[in-house]
Amino acid sequence: MQGRKVIITGVPGVGKTTVVNEALKKLKSEGVEYQSINFGSFMFEVAKKENVVQDRDQMRTLDRAVQKQLQQHAAQAIAKVTGNVLIDTHASVKTPKGYLAGLPEWVLHEIMPDIIVLVETDDDQILMRRLTDETRARDKEGSRSIAEHQQFNRSIAAAYAMMTGCTIKIVINADFLLERSSSELADVLR
Ligand code: AP5
Repeated sequence: MQGRKVIITGVPGVGKTTVVNEALKKLKSEGVEYQSINFGSFMFEVAKKENVVQDRDQMRTLDRAVQKQLQQHAAQAIAKVTGNVLIDTHASVKTPKGYLAGLPEWVLHEIMPDIIVLVETDDDQILMRRLTDETRARDKEGSRSIAEHQQFNRSIAAAYAMMTGCTIKIVINADFLLERSSSELADVLR
């Protein structure tokens, strides 16, 4: 039987990986299995081999053509994974030259998702999470700019739904409410 393909997105620091891990824990206890795949990790493996970056946060500053090539490699590799798959990625990537579509036509046609989830929360909360996360080289930007990025992601997600017929689900991951956001994601995945 063909599995379900769910894409999860959200601006950096919104906590999508945290929500995914919690939701998958809940589902595992019920016997529902998903393979969790990080799109950025697939891109980073190739970028590292080609010696074009040292860490994953440098990828969004690469030349657009190189980012697109890495995207395509990742999409082709991920398309081969069978069963229920949850793909952690970005609806759009903020690059020095503007927003880059995270799921352009050549990526969507490889993956053909059933559902795209947008994880969101208040811009100020994202700003604080980025400032306190010392494990990553997060972009330094204000809450107005984060708001613009979240808005852009909703707009581009509508285009993805038009291209694939997938549904779009918005999950709010507010401070202290991880239980609620992870339960909501688990419901989407059941
Ligand atoms: P990736 O690694 O996916 O980037 P990222 O968005 O920075 O990923 P994270 O998983 O670190 O962010 P998150 O928001 O999920 O954070 P976390 O759960 O840790 O991708 C790397 C790069 O790959 C991209 O920059 C791009 O270059 C490239 N890439 C990827 N996909 C691409 C594509 N399709 N096309 C082109 N390029 C692509 O949470 C953050 C913090 O919040 C933590 O400290 C956590 O404790 C806290 N937190 C989470 N939830 C809560 C809560 N409810 N309350 C309080 N704190 C919370």
